[in-house]
Amino acid sequence: MESLGDWQRSCYCGEPRVTQVGQPLTVMGWVHSRRDHGGVTFVDVRDRSGLVQIVCNPQVSPAAHTQAKELRMEYVVAARGRLERRSQETINPNIPTGGVELVVEELRVLNASRTPPFPIDADTEPAENTRLRYRYLDLRRPKMFENLRLRHRLAKVVRDYLDGEEFLEVETPVLTRSTPEGARDYLVPSRVIPGGFFALPQSPQLFKQLLMVSGMEKYFQIVRCFRDEDLRADRQPEFTQIDIEMSFVRPDDVFQLIEGMMVRLCKEVKGIDIPTPFPRMPYSQAMARFGNDKPDIRFDLEIQELSALFSQTDIKVFRQIVADGGVVRGLIVSDDPFSRKELDDLIPLAQDFGAKGLAWIRLTEDGWQSPLAKFVSDDRKKEIEATLGLKPKDLLLMVADQEQVACEVLSRLRLYLGDKLGLIPKDDMRFLWVTDFPLVEYDADEGRYMAKHHPFTAPNDQDLALLETDPGKVRAFAYDVVLNGVELGGGSIRIHRQDVQQEIFTLLGIGEAEAQEKFGFLLEALSYGAPPHGGIALGFDRLAMLFAGMDSLREVIAFPKTARAQCLMTQAPGGVDTKQLRELSIKVDL
Ligand code: AMO
Ligand code: AMP
Repeated sequence: MESLGDWQRSCYCGEPRVTQVGQPLTVMGWVHSRRDHGGVTFVDVRDRSGLVQIVCNPQVSPAAHTQAKELRMEYVVAARGRLERRSQETINPNIPTGGVELVVEELRVLNASRTPPFPIDADTEPAENTRLRYRYLDLRRPKMFENLRLRHRLAKVVRDYLDGEEFLEVETPVLTRSTPEGARDYLVPSRVIPGGFFALPQSPQLFKQLLMVSGMEKYFQIVRCFRDEDLRADRQPEFTQIDIEMSFVRPDDVFQLIEGMMVRLCKEVKGIDIPTPFPRMPYSQAMARFGNDKPDIRFDLEIQELSALFSQTDIKVFRQIVADGGVVRGLIVSDDPFSRKELDDLIPLAQDFGAKGLAWIRLTEDGWQSPLAKFVSDDRKKEIEATLGLKPKDLLLMVADQEQVACEVLSRLRLYLGDKLGLIPKDDMRFLWVTDFPLVEYDADEGRYMAKHHPFTAPNDQDLALLETDPGKVRAFAYDVVLNGVELGGGSIRIHRQDVQQEIFTLLGIGEAEAQEKFGFLLEALSYGAPPHGGIALGFDRLAMLFAGMDSLREVIAFPKTARAQCLMTQAPGGVDTKQLRELSIKVDL
């Protein structure tokens, strides 16, 4: 093994071109592959920019040729030599440096490598656990480098954009008190105050509001948040937000700011123009038409309300469910592509999604083909066809259930069908604002109202009268921005008056003493001239995932955690020794 000595790299491996033929070059990188050919050894050397072929010819440098024979995959080398044009038959049109090769005059082997657990190339996709266990090798793969580079670009454009809009990036504490965003807290015990715990922030929500009381006017932060919750492909226990707060604003001001940011990102990072303003859809409509609060509007296949039409038939289950306050809703698939078997297979799928069953009607030239056909009179069939505009080859899929279940099942079935039938234009970037979320939701288990967004969200002025009579109907000044069916961000106009905040705490079952103990500092701050304010937080990992066209956040986070919130590389979380625990006055009781 040799040291780098005074060698200096002259270019990245991916850079040499025929225009530089004849120049002396020094490249450094990893051995990607080695081939021995008629006394000459060819080595592909790789760095983050790509590959270059180096040639170790005993007639040019016997020493380099001898050294090259010892090289194995992922050894680290530096090579000096002269760039030459490749002979016609050896040109490799598949790589940018394929027209040239570096004829080595001096080679330094800087480090050896054990045989890696998987090859570092674009074609191999190792098992995910192996990738996470050896993340430092996984990140050597070109795809991962590109994803991290994209993430860096996104952060840079966001910072430049917000700087141009006069926002200040202000850091807020990581060791703090609980912020209620709906997940469990990660706790950090205090040594100095035995029995005292910090909570890692689920978001900087309260600090950014306090910064508005401070007269900061426009705050942002690209900030880590921590939530102990059930994880999925689009959730990590620690994740990053582009967190924003502004004073003296209406929802429209927030929308404009974010739309401008997305226009810049799409233009500068993806090279595409997107239209503004983004469409807006009230929450109630999103639920009715798409079954969820983050509609993927890249394709239609909207949910149909069928309760009235079908409660007039002799289909007993449907009539019963509607009589019990439920609904019948469905999807119309045109040009029905399914075989009978495929259609039958949709039923257990719908059941997995939570349905009791999935009813279907196929329209053919000869009328209805359906297990339910005999329960519907001919006149009623005509009426159903006319109302829904059904035509031959249409397939109507139906779910009867309580509204919430019907929404959940049909929204998932819609996404499944959209994907299966190829209805989703994958390259589209379709943004949408979902607005008018309910302020609170009744939680039957807890027997009380819970904030739908968080307890600092302002109720819509027009619904204030309902606060006492029918809180579930009060709309909030809360909004989400959705991209391709993923909730990219959420925010709201905040309560800026102490009395209103106190009233909302009461509605949420947070008594005065509890409010003082948990949020006393906020209530106090609101009493010192808090300006009207509002903001939003965008999931930065989700943004990167969508821009990179990946299906998991793990593809755009350098060192992510598994679905069990573990790091397979460092083996965190790990045990601690009893001395540490004693210092923290903690006894572990397993
Ligand atoms: P919210 O809880 O909606 O709002 O979070 C904002 C955005 O953060 C992203 N996000 C996540 N990303 C990855 N993994 C997670 N576990 C995770 N949880 C949330 C989502 C989400 O839309 N303080 C408020 C914002 C505000 O009111 O201004 C908040 O945190 O993309
Ligand atoms: P059953 O009477 O249970 O044999 O159901 C007859 C048909 O209606 C089957 O195709 C079931 O999948 C369907 N079905 C039963 N319950 C429901 C429901 N709640 N919603 C939609 N379809 C249902």
